[in-house]
Amino acid sequence: MSGPNVSPPVSSPGDRYSARAEYSTNGQYSSPVPPLVEFQNVWKTYVTGAEPVHALRGVSIKVFPGEYISIVGPSGSGKSTFMHILGCLDTPTSGRYILAGTDVSQMDEEHLAEVRNRRIGFVFQQFHLLPKLSAWRNVELPLIYAGVDRRQRKLLAMQALDQVGLTNRVSHLPNQLSGGQQQRVAVARALVTQPDVLLADEPTGNLDSRSSNDVMAMLDALHRSGKTIVLITHEPDVAAAAERIMRFRDGRFVGQQQDAA
Ligand SMILES: Nc1ncnc2c1ncn2[C@@H]1O[C@H](COP(=O)(O)OP(=O)(O)O)[C@@H](O)[C@H]1O
Ligand SMILES: [Mg+2]
Repeated sequence: MSGPNVSPPVSSPGDRYSARAEYSTNGQYSSPVPPLVEFQNVWKTYVTGAEPVHALRGVSIKVFPGEYISIVGPSGSGKSTFMHILGCLDTPTSGRYILAGTDVSQMDEEHLAEVRNRRIGFVFQQFHLLPKLSAWRNVELPLIYAGVDRRQRKLLAMQALDQVGLTNRVSHLPNQLSGGQQQRVAVARALVTQPDVLLADEPTGNLDSRSSNDVMAMLDALHRSGKTIVLITHEPDVAAAAERIMRFRDGRFVGQQQDAA
């Protein structure tokens, strides 16, 4: 992808798109709102053997509220490491990560877990649904951990299932659902806590093309309803669904980043 994506049209007042970043032709962005995610010169170095591995080498990016971004790059380029830091599963070796105005770069695991549970919704290639629980029971799980009472949990779980178009499947067990439907349950579970960012790692990796299209259409609808989505994928046609494609190579951003390798 050579140039930046074309910004969606800004139309009526109250349009969710209007709060989003605008891109000029040189790929620089400006926005009326502060970024939700900001990486400032983030490095991640793993020391396991004799040679340290620099998985991220000075990554600086911003993601604005309501954006739909895809992350692509060859195996070993740092995508998973990036996602772990973005999702507050790990912290940078150096540099800063500011999430919703809070510097989380140096947080200990306990505080990081708090931020993670409140702000991030994860969707994985494997759906990770509990096989003996119905769709809505799976979706309410994060609310149990969050200490939400029973009645409210059920209500919120039903709303989340409605958001992903599964109103008529709430009592089905995972094995009574298609792959695409199971992934939609997983997305509902990610959304039920109303996270700031939906982080999807190869969400269509286990799906046939029809179910893939189904899940991608749902992500698109969520995006239109104002959700911020970061999608990691190695499939070009999946990546193309996003507004902005960020390309990784050797631990650096290339493409969107002007000063990249
Ligand atoms: N926990 C780890 N310990 C040591 N090296 C790691 C670890 N995780 C990733 N790496 C190394 O960091 C680099 C980037 O890996 P990764 O972020 O998984 O890339 P991708 O997801 O794009 O395949 C690779 O060279 C990988 O071997
Ligand atoms: Mg990976």
